[in-house]
Amino acid sequence: MTRITVLGSTNMDLVAYVTTAPRSGETVTGHEFRTIPGGKGANQAVAAARAGAEVAMIGAVGTDDFGRRLRATLEGSGVDIDLLRTTEGPTGTAHIVVDRDGANSIVVIPGANGSVTSLSHADRAVIAEARSLLLQLELPMSAVLEGAEVARRNGVRTILTPAPAQPLPSQLLAATDLLVPNEHEAATLTGISGDPQRAAEALLAQVPEVVITLGARGCLYASRAQSEPVAVLAPPVTAVDTTGAGDTFVGALAVALAEGRPMIDALTWASSAAALSVQRAGAATSMPYRGEIDA
Ligand code: ADP
Ligand code: NA
Repeated sequence: MTRITVLGSTNMDLVAYVTTAPRSGETVTGHEFRTIPGGKGANQAVAAARAGAEVAMIGAVGTDDFGRRLRATLEGSGVDIDLLRTTEGPTGTAHIVVDRDGANSIVVIPGANGSVTSLSHADRAVIAEARSLLLQLELPMSAVLEGAEVARRNGVRTILTPAPAQPLPSQLLAATDLLVPNEHEAATLTGISGDPQRAAEALLAQVPEVVITLGARGCLYASRAQSEPVAVLAPPVTAVDTTGAGDTFVGALAVALAEGRPMIDALTWASSAAALSVQRAGAATSMPYRGEIDA
């Protein structure tokens, strides 16, 4: 089996479902509350494991019940959590308000994620042995940079999801093989909005390959090795919950690429995985298994 390491966040999503989100100073009564395992790191780890890779997760949970539940969720999907630390204090949480249109506003409290400021010898070893390293920006930048550096020195493909969107240090870009922003993140990184083709071309000045995900419109792939960006359409489906669509997409894409599949095949397969996940509620719990994606 192909080996993938994820260096990233684990959060418990605390989701309040309301008709209209409260404005500052206002109180509203909602109709439902759910706690859903999440964090972009944990989501990508579950997606990649279910898609058929041997996945190791580096990160941290707290000493509370959320931490125990996140560990169980990761283990339940077959993710190796030997390097997932438990640090004194709360697990990371995302406080999410979802309104009747499905629009959401989110506050993230990093909690234990904030304790991952550097890597251990064992962390570096498990990155060096992997085919791919999956990074996002929900851990302290010092750890993200260290992970990217270890991957670069060992010829491990680094796939970076630049979320939450922010200016990227040049050292991180230099170590990134494939950048996978959604269209909002691509706009933040380039200052170009509403023109993913031009945004993709601009990003190629910084990284060798880019995939911009475009929700129901699919994705756009650009590479320094080819003249024109290529669009891959998403299968037409009825979306129920798009939370974690991007993470499902990246996890499956990483697995297909690590298995040596050509980029367009890999993107098509990842699009199938993401389309399956948006047809079911939840993030990690909605991610499909390899057999379902193949079908
Ligand atoms: P994110 O979840 O990071 O915001 P996107 O919304 O761009 O990312 O979605 C990532 C991928 O998930 C898309 O490129 C597409 O393949 C798939 N996807 C998202 N929404 C839908 C949808 N409504 N129908 C089909 N596929 C979707
Ligand atoms: Na999403």
